[in-house]
Amino acid sequence: MAVETKIAATPAPMVVGKPQYDVKDLSLADRGKARIEWAGNEMPVLASIRDRFAKDKPLDGLTVAACLHVTSETANLMIALKAGGANIALCASNPLSTQDDVAAALVQHYGIGTFAIKGEGNDTYYQHIHATLDARPHMTMDDGADTVGLIHSERRDLLGNILGGTEETTTGVIRLKAMAKDGVLGYPIVAVNDAQTKHMFDNRYGTGQSTIDGIVRATNILLAGRKFVVAGYGWCGKGLALRARGIGANVIVTEIDPLKALEAHMDGFTVLPMNEAAKVGDVFCTVTGDIHVLRPEHFASMKDGAIIANSGHFNVEIDLESLGKMASTKREVRDYVEEYVLDGKRLYVLGEGRLINLASAEGHPASVMDMSFANQALSAEWMNQNYTTLQKDVYSVPLAIDQEIARLKLAAVGVGIDTLTDEQERYLSSWQMGT
Ligand code: ADE
Repeated sequence: MAVETKIAATPAPMVVGKPQYDVKDLSLADRGKARIEWAGNEMPVLASIRDRFAKDKPLDGLTVAACLHVTSETANLMIALKAGGANIALCASNPLSTQDDVAAALVQHYGIGTFAIKGEGNDTYYQHIHATLDARPHMTMDDGADTVGLIHSERRDLLGNILGGTEETTTGVIRLKAMAKDGVLGYPIVAVNDAQTKHMFDNRYGTGQSTIDGIVRATNILLAGRKFVVAGYGWCGKGLALRARGIGANVIVTEIDPLKALEAHMDGFTVLPMNEAAKVGDVFCTVTGDIHVLRPEHFASMKDGAIIANSGHFNVEIDLESLGKMASTKREVRDYVEEYVLDGKRLYVLGEGRLINLASAEGHPASVMDMSFANQALSAEWMNQNYTTLQKDVYSVPLAIDQEIARLKLAAVGVGIDTLTDEQERYLSSWQMGT
């Protein structure tokens, strides 16, 4: 089916008159706008795409349901998509990650239907996803695959209307690949996370810096000299371990994958099973993407005063339900810090076990989101151009897009590189030349 047919068949309610929205307080809009502009200064690659989109309108008439962390960086992506002709309905991909002033500005200053309130409960969180789906999207843009999950469970009527989607994060991509493997994925999706200009920078340097930022803002503790346990040595764990070491912590890595464990060992970190790390750690941070990485046997052996945080996508990595049952009391001691007392020992959980870099801080810096969201914008354009030839499967970002983003970012930061000489090109494609 041609895209024109799909678009003509469905109304785009978000652009008719005032957008519908649910945000905390519209009076915060001016502050949010200033913040969006500040982030925009650090997003030159996305800005160049936005300017081209404004001329070419590659998303003209397309309704996009976006479920992303509602931050100043995401706002710049939404503005670029809108410049490209898209109608957008945006909601939060985590109940604690919304920047309320940014959400207000999106509604008030940019006419983007936004449904997101920091601290919203689970019911409101899902109501907000439903609200974006009421716009009858042609495309989904997810961070964690909650929109895709809802469409495939409660909103299956929308499947025929959707041409494709994009997914931002490791956890979401894992879910989508499982759906595709089981033959239940209803439309093609681009795995933005798999682009090198995404995970090598956002996951590593973004998560590394913003997680330390979140832990420090929540607690104001000195990290130098502390034993800092990083659970998981994927791209996010690598970045976090690197930055924790940089600030002076003694870093311990836990892993289940022998290759990653070996890499952590040779990168100079202490590698221990969690049972042993639990006894000595001062600060714990999970970044594995899996469930119950910290559980009762670990809580039982932790030291008095241990601090526990998560920077993985979902709040499942720390078994808080069991911790709650083990504790005699629980109280909030500072914003984003809850004290659990068990047998006279105090354990401190940050940000309700939700990703701490967005709960108590502002997420990844704009400079790194520039590349992630350039991938989102160009993947949305690519999907709109190519969906008729695609299967109901998960696709990588085309290499040409990845390379173009790297080139644009290098130009923006003023870094020049070499090109192969003709002789070098010939050498690389030959097999006769030896010693
Ligand atoms: N994920 C991590 N950091 C983010 C940010 N600043 N904006 C949107 N999504 C994010």
